[in-house]
Amino acid sequence: ASADKAGHKHFMAKEIAEQPAVLSDAIRHYLPANEDSVRLPGEGIDFAGVQRLTLVACGTAYYACLTAKYWFEQLARIPVEVDIASEFRYREPPLPAGTVALFVSQSGETADTLAALRYCKGKADRILSVINVPESSIARESDLALPIHAGVEIGVASTKAFTCQLTVLLILALKAAADRGEMTPEALADHVAALRGLPHLLNAALECDGAVRGAAQRLSAARDVLFLGRGLMYPLALEGALKLKEISYIHAEAYAAGELKHGPIALIDSEMPVVVMAPKDALFDKTISNMQEVMAREGKVLLISDAAGLAEAQEGIWMSITMPRVHPAIAPILYAVPAQLLAYHTAIAKGTDVDQPRNLAKSVTVE
Ligand code: G6P
Repeated sequence: ASADKAGHKHFMAKEIAEQPAVLSDAIRHYLPANEDSVRLPGEGIDFAGVQRLTLVACGTAYYACLTAKYWFEQLARIPVEVDIASEFRYREPPLPAGTVALFVSQSGETADTLAALRYCKGKADRILSVINVPESSIARESDLALPIHAGVEIGVASTKAFTCQLTVLLILALKAAADRGEMTPEALADHVAALRGLPHLLNAALECDGAVRGAAQRLSAARDVLFLGRGLMYPLALEGALKLKEISYIHAEAYAAGELKHGPIALIDSEMPVVVMAPKDALFDKTISNMQEVMAREGKVLLISDAAGLAEAQEGIWMSITMPRVHPAIAPILYAVPAQLLAYHTAIAKGTDVDQPRNLAKSVTVE
């Protein structure tokens, strides 16, 4: 019923708009007020002796894992392996002593992810999960289940579950960094403060809706779209491309911007929109130089950046979307918003069924 959509036309729109509220819930559960420490449910976990982390998931949850690899490696210095559940389960990967396995799943019932978890039983030191449904099979079968507090997600294309997964994974990486003495109390406090400010920034990011709508109108005429990003923006580019193909049926691909020259640049012509996600961070200049290689071949660039980034790199671009300035570590959570809205409005412009895209299921409980 439309009442359940709280005045929105689609569940997806409602769930995108809910993100500031649900993220603030998730943050409150893991970062108690007036403290700069992380609180985990139950006995929690101490990352001090962990040698290796294996992250496994499907779909959007897999891209949350890819993002988390950057966090766990850069902040906590833990080597991380990330895999798609359907590959992991049949490869029979060795799990050396000191390995912690972590499964990410909105539903907690995805058949491949559950099978991958069962493979790790008795082989991994601990089995963790990041789930949205606390009663789910994956939650029940793990040693420690971390709820993302996103509330019920109905739209087949995952939105608020993705940003809540990212938030919980970043908080876990901060805990790991603290447990291992890899982060000073000041640096931890700085990251915690940035996270607490995130719901407010998400509200500001949602204001890009009008600009995105205009961009989507033009994007809806494309046959193929390329997404580019570096560092933390690379997994997000993958998620942006997934969202677009899921609901608008436009073929979309993502590449790490530095990999452009090794193949996809051959596709660039005046028909090819290229979405570049580049906050003004340490990798900005690198990404922008890749963007200029696209423009030199007449590719049409949609640049998503902050005011400082756009001031530097706006010349010659096709369109832009402005994001608020954000702590570089949390940028992918914020930039998920324009990625989601771009897919949403492009699908609307094409007239597809946003909440029930063809051939897709919300939860895939059979192989
Ligand atoms: C399906 C859904 C995706 C989801 C994936 C994994 O393909 O359509 O939105 O990301 O399953 O689901 P899970 O519940 O394990 O996160």
